[in-house]
Amino acid sequence: MRYIVVAGARPNFMKVAPILTAFRERNVSAPDVLLVHTGQHYDAELSGDFFRDLGMPAPDINLEVGSGSHAQQTARVMVAFEPVCRERQPDWVVVVGDVNSTLACALTAKKLGLQAAHVEAGLRSYDRTMPEEINRLCTDAICDLLFTTDEIASANLRREGVAEDKIHFVGNTMIDSLFRHLDRALSLPLPAGVTPGGFALLTLHRPSNVDDEETLRALCGAVTRIADRIPIVFPVHPRTSGRLAAFGLAAALDAHPAIRCIAPLSYLQFIGLVGRARLVLTDSGGIQEETTVLGIPCITMRTTTERPLTCRIGTNMLAGADPERIYRLVVSVLERRERNYSVPEKWDGHAA
Ligand code: UD1
Repeated sequence: MRYIVVAGARPNFMKVAPILTAFRERNVSAPDVLLVHTGQHYDAELSGDFFRDLGMPAPDINLEVGSGSHAQQTARVMVAFEPVCRERQPDWVVVVGDVNSTLACALTAKKLGLQAAHVEAGLRSYDRTMPEEINRLCTDAICDLLFTTDEIASANLRREGVAEDKIHFVGNTMIDSLFRHLDRALSLPLPAGVTPGGFALLTLHRPSNVDDEETLRALCGAVTRIADRIPIVFPVHPRTSGRLAAFGLAAALDAHPAIRCIAPLSYLQFIGLVGRARLVLTDSGGIQEETTVLGIPCITMRTTTERPLTCRIGTNMLAGADPERIYRLVVSVLERRERNYSVPEKWDGHAA
């Protein structure tokens, strides 16, 4: 059998790395398994540093599609990926997650009559204004094998009429990476002036939060208010730093003595911070899962989540973009020391 495994953007790399390791452990190597990087993310901070930290081999093929509108990016990946599939004739194309590269490669493979497998299938936010929700729905609708991270995702697929033999509840490959690298990550130094358990970690990059000036202004207001109670470390995504500058919001954050705006972090540095944070504020998807496994309270600045299990049994709380609700949740976390949470079934480091 021949496989092509696809990775495109930052949240893909930690999901793909353990799958490549599993192939290697079974003595399946190039040309029978090829890693294709679409190049959706290309900065060292969003891509190359992750390969290094995760011990991933360099991609066999880089499509170098870069940034663009959704249509441009998706189309460019498809146009570049089609000849790769034609030439290499894989039996399976394996895609992970929910980024534009995920959908583009699944669609290309299926149009060529190849089999496609989706890792992290069945997640649904039921919010179709999220670009990732469209990617998830379309990818799951066409793939032949759907590997899910929890039983809620499997049930979502059944409700959509997916045949039972396509659905496989296997666990969470992103958590495989977390367990594999956590000790090393926790041994890295913290930023100056920050102590274990004494800071909040903030990430913010979702278009619904950062592209609208009023929303971003309100969120920045909440952040400065929170920083009066606890220091905040804020690795800033390139989309967000562009918006903060354009809306004239960067100076107020930089001026606050308890807010440290820094460049996006490598995988190990980031996980090392998550594991030692008092709490995490985020609008990411994957971080909701990593905090649940690590038992770190997570306040998610979204009104919906495609990962409801992290709220049901984990440490995750949905706050939307409402500054007052975000602040109140932070205060309640800071005032309550005990933590009741459990880790979802099969998030045990052995999914791949
Ligand atoms: C993408 C994913 C999102 C994921 C996020 C993690 C989709 C629809 N979205 O969003 O699900 O949570 O990645 O980061 O696929 N840029 C750089 N350097 C890079 C890549 C991008 O500076 O290496 C800048 C560019 O200005 C680009 C912008 O970031 O236009 C957005 O990049 P893009 O890949 O379009 O989407 P993300 O917001 O990163």
